[in-house]
Amino acid sequence: MNNSDYLLGLDLGTTRVKVLLVSPDGNVVASADDDYPLDRPADEAAEQSPEEWWKASCKVIRSILARPDIEPEQIAGLGLAGQMHTAVFLDENLQPVRPAITWADGRSSSQAEKIERRIGEKNLLEITYNRSLPGFTAPKVLWLKENEPELFAKVKKVVLPKDYLRYRLTGELIADKADASATLLFNLAEEEWSDRMLKLVGLTTDSVPPLVESSSVAGEITKKAAELTGLAEGTPVVAGAGDQQAGALGVGAVKPGIVVSTIGTGGQLFTTSEELIEPREGRVHVFRQCLPQSWHVMGAMQAAGLALRWFKENVVDKAGGGRFNYEDISELASKAPVGSNDLLFLPYLTGERSPHLDPDARGCFIGLSLNHELPHLLRGIMEGVTFGMRDSMEVLQELGLPIEEIRCAGGGSKSQVWRKIQSDVYNRAIAKTNIEEPAALGAALLAGIGLDLFASEPGETAAQFLDLSQKVTPTPSHVEVYDRLHERYQSLYRVLRPEFKELAAL
Ligand code: XUL
Repeated sequence: MNNSDYLLGLDLGTTRVKVLLVSPDGNVVASADDDYPLDRPADEAAEQSPEEWWKASCKVIRSILARPDIEPEQIAGLGLAGQMHTAVFLDENLQPVRPAITWADGRSSSQAEKIERRIGEKNLLEITYNRSLPGFTAPKVLWLKENEPELFAKVKKVVLPKDYLRYRLTGELIADKADASATLLFNLAEEEWSDRMLKLVGLTTDSVPPLVESSSVAGEITKKAAELTGLAEGTPVVAGAGDQQAGALGVGAVKPGIVVSTIGTGGQLFTTSEELIEPREGRVHVFRQCLPQSWHVMGAMQAAGLALRWFKENVVDKAGGGRFNYEDISELASKAPVGSNDLLFLPYLTGERSPHLDPDARGCFIGLSLNHELPHLLRGIMEGVTFGMRDSMEVLQELGLPIEEIRCAGGGSKSQVWRKIQSDVYNRAIAKTNIEEPAALGAALLAGIGLDLFASEPGETAAQFLDLSQKVTPTPSHVEVYDRLHERYQSLYRVLRPEFKELAAL
């Protein structure tokens, strides 16, 4: 890579877009981000405006390029990462027909069931390696077909968020295999869109973009996009990947044995595999990773950081007049004892993916007593979310995947108390990485790989600037408390499952 060259990596997240300017040696030189709302126009809905993504993305790229020390011509390429599964519906002019239906939208549970019933669980696992869940793209397509048929009739293309953004930047509509593998419209073994799955939800192969590898150059910045972003016309844009996939590359977790525990809006326990793993019952997801000949297994929780945010915004902020930030919340949680005096929190506020695959599950505090105060509730939420992550870890172990090292990422890794809870609940040492925005960094690395700018292997390139020295280790007495409570946590879900079904049917 030329010393005057830089890469840009952009992550189109669920709550904000982040962009990183990365130097030839892989160092992050500058970053910018901007928020956008997650609209909840109806019960269980979670929608977002693609136009807001576009405006926010132009703004953050422009703000990086406004630096006096950077010329647009110095940007060798741009890589994209983004929220996964979210469906963007485009008409014949490639304009969105409605707001995007995000992965966090829970309205398509009956469509998810219908898909599985029509094709059969065994066939579904054989084709996609996954079970049908409302968080995935395919049920959202069927939801649109059944609930807004007049809009569905206008749909010519269904694309993922960062692919829509790339279209606005380059005029080319392309998808990458990694992100596409998480739509439930993809044949994982054949690495192609699945005709059968597309047909099942009313689409054809013409409804989805052609597929390329994540590091392939997938277009160039158009004149119009150059004017709006400040990038030079003709700058190459690499296909990129889903946020979890690019994020794993960003923290160097591209080899088996390394597990990434991410607590962001959702929660993910992610590991790479060099062979295509049999999904068994599909309690965790199996998708394509962003490097060739590589797959990943991932336990995914719907509400992880989201559970804490829900409680902060609806209870703490309202009662406390918005005085507390997340550092204060962590500080408060640290005042409660390990195990929160036997208070248990089930974090299933919007149903759950791994390992229960249960859209009807709901959140609860159990074991409340007069001795519980705000710190217990906050710590209880952090512990409950981490118990959910441990459930996924147990499934990874059952699948025979090696767990040699755990790296934590996401907003949750910024909290010292939550990092310690993770280490104690997993009974493993965990390392905090110095990478603030793994997905955006992974996207920049994919651009560098695609443009052939790095001399070393992708994992080694990522590892060059990775600092894993900040480790937390488990405390045996805490592990004992958490082992006992985790057993109760698992049992409570089993006991409550039929009640959740009854509640959902009301
Ligand atoms: C992964 C998942 C989230 C989204 C949002 O399965 O649902 O990571 O990609 O960021």
